[in-house]
Amino acid sequence: MPKRIIEPNTTLYPVPVVLITTGGSKPNVMNCNRISSCSAEPPRLAISIRPGRYSHSLLHESREFVVNIPMPEQSTLVDYIGVVTGRKEDKIAIAGLKLAPALKLKTPLLADCPVNIECIVEQEIALDSHTMFIGLVQAVHAEESLLDEHGDVDVKRALGIIYDNGTVREKPNYKFRVEDLRRAVRRT
Ligand SMILES: Cc1cc2nc3c(=O)[nH]c(=O)nc-3n(C[C@H](O)[C@H](O)[C@H](O)COP(=O)(O)O)c2cc1C
Repeated sequence: MPKRIIEPNTTLYPVPVVLITTGGSKPNVMNCNRISSCSAEPPRLAISIRPGRYSHSLLHESREFVVNIPMPEQSTLVDYIGVVTGRKEDKIAIAGLKLAPALKLKTPLLADCPVNIECIVEQEIALDSHTMFIGLVQAVHAEESLLDEHGDVDVKRALGIIYDNGTVREKPNYKFRVEDLRRAVRRT
């Protein structure tokens, strides 16, 4: 099969879309698909965030974040969280997101996401368009129904939202209605 050289970009797939809570006791939430596992012992996750995001300043100040994994039926909610800034709207209050206390952080978890990973920021690396925040994993919360016989998350049952420009969009072509958001918070 012939191949063509295309513009350098970050083509790498599939990638998940997660919801990042940060900011300690005054939390905000944003979408992130620039996320990867970057070490195993001890476990670390890296997220890359544009300096202009409200969450960027909260990450820098609070030095902690939670990776909340949403499910496909929550995609309307994820669209909203990924296009509206917490500088202008309290996304958590408007969408009616239920928060739960973290084990090791001041920043809360999103109770309606089945998996939540608590991280403390160990390093910040400036990478031109983005800052990479490397987080040392402190605790993982996982719904019991998603665990396999070894006590690990079964990714087939916990498969979240894959970024493909169709499931969740940076420019959704519909208006967000509070009732739709609140419906999308809960998983059936
Ligand atoms: C699917 C999707 C993935 C996104 N991934 C990232 C990301 O990895 N890094 C980033 O800085 N912004 C990302 N964004 C954009 C932010 O989530 C968006 O600008 C958000 O409104 C920022 O919220 P805040 O200003 O309240 O922090 C993504 C948006 C969408 C829709």
